[in-house]
Amino acid sequence: MKVLIINGSPRKDGNCARLIREAAAVFDKEGVSYELFEVGNKAIRGCAACGYCVTHDACVFNDEATELGKKFAECDGLLLASPVYYASANGTLVSLLDRMFRSIKCDLRMKVGAAFAVARRAGTVATFDELNKYFTINQMVVASGDYWNNGFGGAKGEIEEDAEGLRNARVVAQNMVFLMRAVALGKEKYGLPENEPRVRTSFIR
Ligand SMILES: Cc1cc2nc3c(=O)[nH]c(=O)nc-3n(C[C@H](O)[C@H](O)[C@H](O)COP(=O)(O)O)c2cc1C
Repeated sequence: MKVLIINGSPRKDGNCARLIREAAAVFDKEGVSYELFEVGNKAIRGCAACGYCVTHDACVFNDEATELGKKFAECDGLLLASPVYYASANGTLVSLLDRMFRSIKCDLRMKVGAAFAVARRAGTVATFDELNKYFTINQMVVASGDYWNNGFGGAKGEIEEDAEGLRNARVVAQNMVFLMRAVALGKEKYGLPENEPRVRTSFIR
């Protein structure tokens, strides 16, 4: 059982990193392995809409999008953390996720996803929704907490004072572990649900 963790923040040991540490301690306790990638300082460009990934098992740009997509294929869960920038996930992370999810070819159904959004003051809920959309268009299972997964802090380390946010991160990680185990058992017993053939309609006449 393994979780891929992607931190969008460019700040080393920032507030997203602190929430991730809280979740990772739960994974450690439960014997779940994980790999953490901090992408905030990488030069990750957006999707070029070139269509290369439709015919290839990779993004046309040979970078983290393909690398992390391949890692994700081997994992049971994905944990994302983003600092809130202008009430949205940070641009580097969005660029990565657009291309990673677009180019990945493996079956993502029932992989478990969770997302943390960290802000000084506002925009966490919009960011949380934004990140969850990568999961919910792919038949993934979303692990929730007992609040929307936000954490508050402006300066590095301020999140230490957000006891509720830190606790929620632990709850989310615990729920991820439970769901990954439940999905593994369910797959063994029932297999993945059969999907009808895909129908794609566009809203044009
Ligand atoms: C470009 C930029 C935009 C930001 N926009 C917001 C915002 O919309 N709302 C907010 O509350 N904080 C905003 N912040 C503050 C960060 O979300 C906050 O400092 C957060 O703790 C950063 O997380 P990190 O330490 O993991 O990088 C912004 C910071 C930057 C650099």
